[in-house]
Amino acid sequence: MSETVKIALIGLGTVGTGVARVVLEESERLTRRCGKKIEIAKVVVRDLSRTRQIDLPPGLVTDNLQEVLDDDSITVAVQLIGGIHPAKQYMEQLIDAGKHIVSANKALLCQHGTELFARAREKGRTIAFEAAVAGGIPIIHVLSQAMSGNQITAIEAILNGTSNFILSEMFLGGRSYEDVLAEAQELGYAEADPTLDVDGTDAAQKLGLLVQLAFGTKVTLDQFPKQGIDTLPLEDLLYAYELGYSIRLIAVARLVKDELELHVQPTLVPLDKPLAQVHGPNNMIALEGDVVGKTWYQGLGAGQNPTASAVISDLVDTVAGRNELIFPFMDLWNEGKQLEVMPAEEIRRRYYLRFNVLDQPHVFAEMADVLGRNQISLASIIQHETPEAPEANGDSKQVVPVVIMTHMTTEGRIRAANEELSKLNSIREDRVILPVLD
Ligand code: HSE
Repeated sequence: MSETVKIALIGLGTVGTGVARVVLEESERLTRRCGKKIEIAKVVVRDLSRTRQIDLPPGLVTDNLQEVLDDDSITVAVQLIGGIHPAKQYMEQLIDAGKHIVSANKALLCQHGTELFARAREKGRTIAFEAAVAGGIPIIHVLSQAMSGNQITAIEAILNGTSNFILSEMFLGGRSYEDVLAEAQELGYAEADPTLDVDGTDAAQKLGLLVQLAFGTKVTLDQFPKQGIDTLPLEDLLYAYELGYSIRLIAVARLVKDELELHVQPTLVPLDKPLAQVHGPNNMIALEGDVVGKTWYQGLGAGQNPTASAVISDLVDTVAGRNELIFPFMDLWNEGKQLEVMPAEEIRRRYYLRFNVLDQPHVFAEMADVLGRNQISLASIIQHETPEAPEANGDSKQVVPVVIMTHMTTEGRIRAANEELSKLNSIREDRVILPVLD
C-alpha cells in the first residue's frame, strides 16, 4: 500500500479542471511515477455557485483558503490563479503554512520570484513552475537539469500560443485579427486579459523566467524592447511571405560578448527556419548551448491539457522530492555574476520597413537620403505597380506601400532614421518596422 500525499488545488479554472481530471482518472499512473498516492484533499474556488466542467468527490470544494492553511496533512498546494493579487498573498500564506507550491503564474514569478523563492527556501519548501513557460514543453526541466553541462548562448523562441495562433490563422485563412483573437479566447489559449498575450507582455514575462534560469540574470520588462502583434496588418504577413519570410512573435535572449541581447517583437523569420514553420497555438524554443550546440523544443504552449501536463509533472516531482534538486538552482545563479542587458540602440539586425508614401516624384530620393545618411544600406525594395490615377500627370497624390529590406544595421540607426522620416510630408505615419531573425 503506497503512502498517500494530500494536495490542495487553489483555483479550478481551465487548467485546474484539467489537472483535477488527470489526478482523479490517472491515479495509478501517477503513483507509479512518484511512489506515492496523490489525493486531492481540498479545492479552493472564488465562486462556489459557478457550474464546473468536472464532478469532484463531495466535500472537497471550499471558498476558504484558511481550510488549506490550517490542515497540516496537506503538504502541496497547486496554485492555479493568475495575476498578482491575491495570488501573491495566497502563495506567501501557503509557503508560511509549510506547503510546497506548484504554480503556473508567470506574471507573479517574473515580478516577485526572487522574494517568493527566498521565502520558500527559508521554510525548506519548493516552488515548481514548469507550466509558467511554454505550456506542455518541459523547457524549465531542460534548462535547470538537462543543460547543466552548458553555458546557454542563445534562446530564440515563440512563447505565446495566442499570438502564434492569430498570426498563422490570419495568414492561412486570410482572416481578420479580431475574428481570430475571439476564437483564441473561446479555445482557452488567451489570458483572462488577452491584451497581455497580443501586446507581447506574456512572452516577455516568460523570456524573463528563461533568462534567469539560462543566464543567472534577473531582468525586468522595462529593460528590453517589447512589441506585440496587435497592430500588425495582414498586409505585412503577405509581403513577408513574398520576400521568403514568416512573421512570428519571437523572443530572443543572446549572449553577445558579456552582454545580454534581449527583445520580444514580431519578427521576420526565413521560411526555412524551424521557427517559421510553427503554426497554431504551438510554441517553439530554439536553445543553443556551448557544448550541445542547437536544440529545438516544440509543442502546444497554451490550452487546458498541455498546461495541465506541465503542472502534473511538477506535482509528481514535488511529491517524489525531485524538485529539491532543481529548486536551489535559481538561488545559486542569483549569487553569481549578473549580466548587463545590451542597450537597445546597439542591437544589430536586418530590418523590414513598410512605408505608405505619396506616389510622386522625389519620394524615393527623400527616403533613401534619410536611410543613407543614417548609414542604413538597402538590400531590396518592392513597390507594386498601381493603376494610374485618373488625373495622373506626374503629380499624383495616391498613397502606395513601399517595402524595403535593409542590410545589417543597428536599432539605434533605425530609430534615428524613423525620427527623421516622421518629419517628411510624403510618408504617412503608419510606418511598419520589423526586425529579421538571421
Ligand atoms: N496565454 C498563454 C499563451 C498561455 O497564449 O501562450 C499561458 O501561458
